Amino acid sequence: MIKGASTIYYGGDYSPDQFDLETIKKDIVSFREAGINMVTLPVFSWTKLEPEEGVYDFGWLDQAMDLFLEAGLKVCMATPTAAQPAWLSHKYPEVLPVDQQGRKRTHGMRVFYCVNSAKYRERAAAIAEAMAKRYCKYPNLAMWHVSNEYGTYCYCDTCRRKFHGWLQRKYQIIENLNEKWNNTFWNKTYTDFAEITVPSETNDEFRFNPTLALEYMRFMTDCTIECFENEARAIRRYCPDMTIQTNISGHIENLDQFKMVKHMDIVSWDNYPKPSSEPGLVAMKHDLMRSLKQGASFMMQEQSPNQQNWQPTSKLKRPGEVRMLSYQALSRGADACLFFQLRQSVSGQEMYHGAVISHADRTDTRTFREVAQLGQELQKIGGLFLDGRTAAKSAIIFDWDSWWALEKASLNCLPYKKMDYLKKVYKFYKVFHKHNIPVDFVAKDADFSQYSLLIAPYLYIVDETVAERLKSFTASGKTLVGTVFTGVCDEQCKAVYGAYPGLLRDVFGLWSEEMDALYEKETNDICFDGDIRFTCSFLCELYHNTTAETLASYGKDFYAGMPVISRNRYGEGTAYYIGTDPEFACLEHLLTEIFEETGIGPYYAAAEGVEITCRQNQTASILFVLNWNKEEAWIDLLEDRYENAVTEEIMTGHVTLKPYDAIVLKKTDER
Ligand code: GLA
Ligand code: ZN
Repeated sequence: MIKGASTIYYGGDYSPDQFDLETIKKDIVSFREAGINMVTLPVFSWTKLEPEEGVYDFGWLDQAMDLFLEAGLKVCMATPTAAQPAWLSHKYPEVLPVDQQGRKRTHGMRVFYCVNSAKYRERAAAIAEAMAKRYCKYPNLAMWHVSNEYGTYCYCDTCRRKFHGWLQRKYQIIENLNEKWNNTFWNKTYTDFAEITVPSETNDEFRFNPTLALEYMRFMTDCTIECFENEARAIRRYCPDMTIQTNISGHIENLDQFKMVKHMDIVSWDNYPKPSSEPGLVAMKHDLMRSLKQGASFMMQEQSPNQQNWQPTSKLKRPGEVRMLSYQALSRGADACLFFQLRQSVSGQEMYHGAVISHADRTDTRTFREVAQLGQELQKIGGLFLDGRTAAKSAIIFDWDSWWALEKASLNCLPYKKMDYLKKVYKFYKVFHKHNIPVDFVAKDADFSQYSLLIAPYLYIVDETVAERLKSFTASGKTLVGTVFTGVCDEQCKAVYGAYPGLLRDVFGLWSEEMDALYEKETNDICFDGDIRFTCSFLCELYHNTTAETLASYGKDFYAGMPVISRNRYGEGTAYYIGTDPEFACLEHLLTEIFEETGIGPYYAAAEGVEITCRQNQTASILFVLNWNKEEAWIDLLEDRYENAVTEEIMTGHVTLKPYDAIVLKKTDER
């Protein structure tokens, strides 16, 4: 939880350096009117704060801090290090990154520096420390936000040398690395760590050397963590007890977030769904964020109060949409609901990005009204569900290693050339979401014991420890679900000999002989009891059951009749295997049967498109009900009695929700 918070933080990014004093004062009045209690500053103001090396100008920020303090607004203080000053890049070109094409980049973009540049780190730590020293005493300072949306990879010589050291620490001697990477293939044997290249376009290794490419992604995650720690350490010196975080970009693929968040006090992320994004996909990302720290509440550090200008078409958020999306985040574990941005900038790339106060410079606007309505609601109910947890009996294993290997590092060697790991995982998640069954995400090295159902979709990389844990999980009477490409490779992307699913052959009770790749529009059929019931696509694994029983078989091609979905009793438990990518209806059919068998059920029955979530803290159990339909929809609360936290109306039995409505219900025993 956010240290010291007694309510939901509501507000967002604000750039006092872009506006004059009168505007700031006027904005503060508007913020208070809108129930805003937090501002995030000064995310991109490094040069304004340090106009020349080692010379700081905090005057303007002090002035803003004083005004916010006076107005009772909390501050989420960001270090401005995501965009380095032009003078820094100019004076020390080593700060600039080399991209994957091998080009040394020139100054300009943000998050555009070499994560291993000693000069960058020195200056970043220095400004973080200077800010911490200056602002730690401000009573309205609520937390620290380090830099912004990490994720840029660099391929320069500094990074290459550092990579050598990183590999040497991991493998100790070069022979060991050669053996583990199987470097006799294509004559890749090294005689010294110094010979190892970085996987860029100059050598094409990012395309044709899966192991090297994968290791580099792990390495870049570690370097980014060092960058974060570099500043966090400096801040901790002055603010030892304050929450320190960094906002995770909505594009989460570059960095292993399970590893990253170990260094953060709270998970914080930026939610920018496309106008066309299914509510389930957005819900999944929130659940993933909640799961990064094993269910602890997180922050929605950014969302747009209206359109996102960087999408191909800047669709307006429809009336009520911001409220729905906000409650969705809050219902799934957010303790902060913040916007990018509070006031629109007058020029630059983001001048048309949605803002609470737009270029119209007034508050009688639809966006402001909607933001203010939500702000007032949260003022009333925000404390109710603070730090609330969601109890789930099921979990989906989410694995950055497998994501990278299947979608990036090994892409050219795999039987297909296009893969969207997130989408494939989402297909499973969507069944849970549609049926309002809570589900967590877990890392493959997590403790699974609190769950009774574990899904391991496309869990490509499985070492002996993980395999043992999956086996004992299942043997203890639990249920495991695996798919094609579960358990194929070891940590270095080497196939496990003796047939897939490698070390998990016994638990799934089968061995795989071949794998057919299907053309983009091509499908096969899935037959249950000889009847064609569903289709499948992408990959079709041709496997043989040893101890497993066939639940469904292929309907077409030379492998018609071979098993495609099987069930194996293992110890006291059960393991299901799906040797293909089945259509959603098939997964829904299978998983709902598994839910029944394992006694996992929804919160309440409800119409389709009604999303139900529960957060429980020490004092209350809060039910959130969202109606994503354009029409009215229902939920059946049975005999249970709830109070609508906003309207104070008592609700029980069959309850109707207006289109796009979100209600927050507090369990009550009163009759
Ligand atoms: C990111 C950044 C913000 C802003 C938004 C715009 O999430 O962190 O500074 O650029 O995108 O959507
Ligand atoms: Zn570099």
